[in-house]
Amino acid sequence: MAYIKSAALEETGYVVLDPYGKEIDPKEWLEVEYVDWKSSGDTRFAPLASAKGEIECNGFWNHKPPRTDKDGVWIDSQTAIAPTLTERAKEPGANVGRCRIIELQPNTYADCLYNLHQDDNNRLNPDGTGWVVRGFFNLTDDKTSYFVLRENRTDPSQETRIALPAGAQLIVDTQRLWHAAAHYGTEPRYCLITSWESGPELDAYIAKYNGVNKVESYPVDQETLDAGQIEQERRIAARAAALAARGQQEVNVMSEA
Ligand SMILES: [Fe+2]
Repeated sequence: MAYIKSAALEETGYVVLDPYGKEIDPKEWLEVEYVDWKSSGDTRFAPLASAKGEIECNGFWNHKPPRTDKDGVWIDSQTAIAPTLTERAKEPGANVGRCRIIELQPNTYADCLYNLHQDDNNRLNPDGTGWVVRGFFNLTDDKTSYFVLRENRTDPSQETRIALPAGAQLIVDTQRLWHAAAHYGTEPRYCLITSWESGPELDAYIAKYNGVNKVESYPVDQETLDAGQIEQERRIAARAAALAARGQQEVNVMSEA
């Protein structure tokens, strides 16, 4: 047996879809309820679907009974405020697990490299069923921000940087690819993140929006790239040393976003 995966994601682990061309009222992400939830960077999350329909962000496997990141329960008080976002998460018709809006405070490329992580989307996912991937739908018009994807956390040669203007849409195998966002500016970035189950529905959605599995990287000057890489190394070493002093080891896989 093997997991059902999207052929479109096989080569690079991601697809970029046609941008969403319509305006959405910012109330849909500004007026929902957020909870503090530490992820990669200075973040808060507003769940639209959670394990039991409550306003919390814990992995479904941490609930009783533990289960995989599928069959998220919609939170009526949130979806009522964010009907378009809810509709967008449901649009593919694929099973939805966690569905949340992330609020990310401004950071830098160096921060982003340190924040790179893999998600834990497929914990307890039964073999033979659909592999869980993540949809990212950027809400704010972050023209100088970009999503960084790497096959290997510390190898810049395989890096892809994806621009994040309003309406940017991508689907990423975030358990495979290391990922985080570099968000420049003064205001927070908002993005809808949905766990979708791979299968024919998601494949049809990727085809409908002309998903491409390779894009030109968002341009960043070499000096920033080099300085970011050095800073990533420095921070990883500093953290490893701090953990070693406490007799602990680095945990690379984060469970969230
Ligand atoms: Fe993540």
